[in-house]
Amino acid sequence: MESNRTVLVTGGSGFIGSHLVCSLVLKHTDWRIINLDTLDYCCSRRSLQAVEDRSNYSLIRGDICNPQLVNHIFNTENIDVVFHLAAKTHVESSFESPSCFHRVNVEGTQVLLSAACQAPHTLHRFIYISTDEVYGAGPGQGLDETSPLRPNNPYAATKAAAETHVLSYWDTHRFPVIITRSNNVYGPRQYTEKVIPRFLSLLRNNRKCTIQGTLPKSRHFLFVADAVDALLLLLEKGIVGEVYNVGTSFEIPITHLARELIKTVKNVPDSQVKDWLEFVPDRPVLELRYPITCDKLKQLGWREKVTWTEGIRHTVKWYQDNPDFWWNTEEDQRPITEEFQHVMDTSGLCSSTDRIQT
Ligand SMILES: NC(=O)c1ccc[n+]([C@@H]2O[C@H](COP(=O)([O-])OP(=O)(O)OC[C@H]3O[C@@H](n4cnc5c(N)ncnc54)[C@H](O)[C@@H]3O)[C@@H](O)[C@H]2O)c1
Repeated sequence: MESNRTVLVTGGSGFIGSHLVCSLVLKHTDWRIINLDTLDYCCSRRSLQAVEDRSNYSLIRGDICNPQLVNHIFNTENIDVVFHLAAKTHVESSFESPSCFHRVNVEGTQVLLSAACQAPHTLHRFIYISTDEVYGAGPGQGLDETSPLRPNNPYAATKAAAETHVLSYWDTHRFPVIITRSNNVYGPRQYTEKVIPRFLSLLRNNRKCTIQGTLPKSRHFLFVADAVDALLLLLEKGIVGEVYNVGTSFEIPITHLARELIKTVKNVPDSQVKDWLEFVPDRPVLELRYPITCDKLKQLGWREKVTWTEGIRHTVKWYQDNPDFWWNTEEDQRPITEEFQHVMDTSGLCSSTDRIQT
């Protein structure tokens, strides 16, 4: 590993970003890690408590869509590596406000690419964190990286659009990009709008787990430490211009997931599990499952280390031990429109820069 690297992590205060930042700051004490984040509603400063006093970590509170700010960072900070995670990520909200998702996920990515490509200091890697959802709902077998993209929700469409911008920089400028497409990631500190913490939060408040529709929707879940390992490996061994799926063989129907969490958290017999389930109407497009293969990543040496049994036990325990981490969890249960208005009002999509620590 090279020493004295400067790494810019966008969205480093979010769920995956905060785990990545902690890992980078603690493992690479000779690297400078800069986190560029608006500190949107889905962030807690507490996610980065373990590193906030470290001299090799700094947070710039700012918007990736702000070209003045982003150009300034690339002109002054000698950035070697970008992990680009900043995004609007809540699929349900993307149906309500697709233009907001377009602005951050597509235009924001474009702003970063442009600034990074024109920076006086040559960038070593630009790693874009995309999603398996760009493939759309898949058939029975796993999709590899050459499969066509058929995003079928606004969130996935913006991620796919951003990918095309990223790849165009490789095609046009041989700009050293790598794209990852990951399954659902879970673990401690994930905001309570995502399915596992949402179920845990509802159960904690003695409310039922709400399941959208009655069709057998299922998801693959990868533990966050394994997702971070994949990103770090790709920084070392990934081939520029390439796309890598980051997947797990573990798949679970959402109804089974709810049942498992109900049994664990409420400690009830099978006969009473249904009392904690409620079926609600589907969202506009229902994706049944996203099967992917990740042989390409495995050829570089990556293996999933954390089993579902270990990962979910650790995650449930973390939410039980940190019940007040997301102080406003009650607000997450509001209808989407109201929730999204709240996001717009408080998201801090600011043009000002707030350098928290250097
Ligand atoms: N969580 C998953 O299951 C999953 C799976 C595949 C891919 N991804 C991708 O990984 C990335 C991170 O996902 P996550 O689950 O950690 O999301 P998250 O919602 O927890 O975090 C997103 C982060 O981006 C920041 N952000 C939003 N708009 C910004 C802006 N304009 N400027 C700067 N920062 C901004 C937020 O404040 C937040 O810290 C996303 O790009 C997402 O598409 C996530």
